[in-house]
Amino acid sequence: MILIDGKKEAAKLREELKQEVLGLKNNFKKVPGLTVILIGEMAPSQIYVRNKEKSAREVGLKSEVIKYPESIEEKIVLEKIKELNKDDTVSGILVQLPLPKHIDKQKVIETISPHKDVDGLHPMNVGNLSSGYQGSIPCTPLGCYLLIKNVEPNLSGKKAVMIGRSNLNGKAMAQLLLQEDCTVTITHSKTKNLKAECLAADIIVAAVGITELVKGDWVKKDAIVIDVGINKTEKGIVGDVAFDEVSKVAKALTPVPGGVGPMTIACLLKNTIECFKRTQK
Ligand code: GUN
Repeated sequence: MILIDGKKEAAKLREELKQEVLGLKNNFKKVPGLTVILIGEMAPSQIYVRNKEKSAREVGLKSEVIKYPESIEEKIVLEKIKELNKDDTVSGILVQLPLPKHIDKQKVIETISPHKDVDGLHPMNVGNLSSGYQGSIPCTPLGCYLLIKNVEPNLSGKKAVMIGRSNLNGKAMAQLLLQEDCTVTITHSKTKNLKAECLAADIIVAAVGITELVKGDWVKKDAIVIDVGINKTEKGIVGDVAFDEVSKVAKALTPVPGGVGPMTIACLLKNTIECFKRTQK
């Protein structure tokens, strides 16, 4: 079984990005900038944002975090985004999700310039991805895609099953694999006989947030299994895949932690650099 080392792959990608930033600095006399907006005090979001900021600095990007209290008015956040849209030193804008209930997520996402939307969540980028046009691709699916391609460069004709249909994961992942000529099934909480769907899959991407949902007898021999889950349990952080059981049957599997997570952040940096390059052309 191939244990997919997301930490190692992410480090490799960050090193490539670092070299690319040096080149851009030489060419344009400036570096790409990432601005993250963090609202509230949720512990997981704070940890994610700290890691994003640290990684951005490490590859040489300009990095800024704007923090607002949970009670901040929506209007102030939208005004700040509009200001960042006009700021030439800001290449990428990310508003950390989830947002407090009184703030309209759709309004926030649609206010971010699609050219600075490093999450790939703006409807224009969602449309670009589903049309196969250029644009930002959500970081986690992009990271999963790179890990899968590393194990199996030719995905043509493979049957891929997404578990979960979120905008950030399942739906975008499905589009990426469709572009690789996979036959894609998107499953969700109302899917009948999820086990049978998984057993038919050459590739499984689990992103539902249910601890160890995917069991050993759900997985075909030689399938590639990507675990996006981050579930807090008494045993610590555990994925959506029963690791010990599945590792006995799968061809390749990502661990949690150390699989998809580090790639998500590296892909955020990649997206920031891509946004910068597209505006310099
Ligand atoms: N919260 C958890 N994952 C993400 C992500 O990829 N982007 C944003 N904006 N918020 C998140």
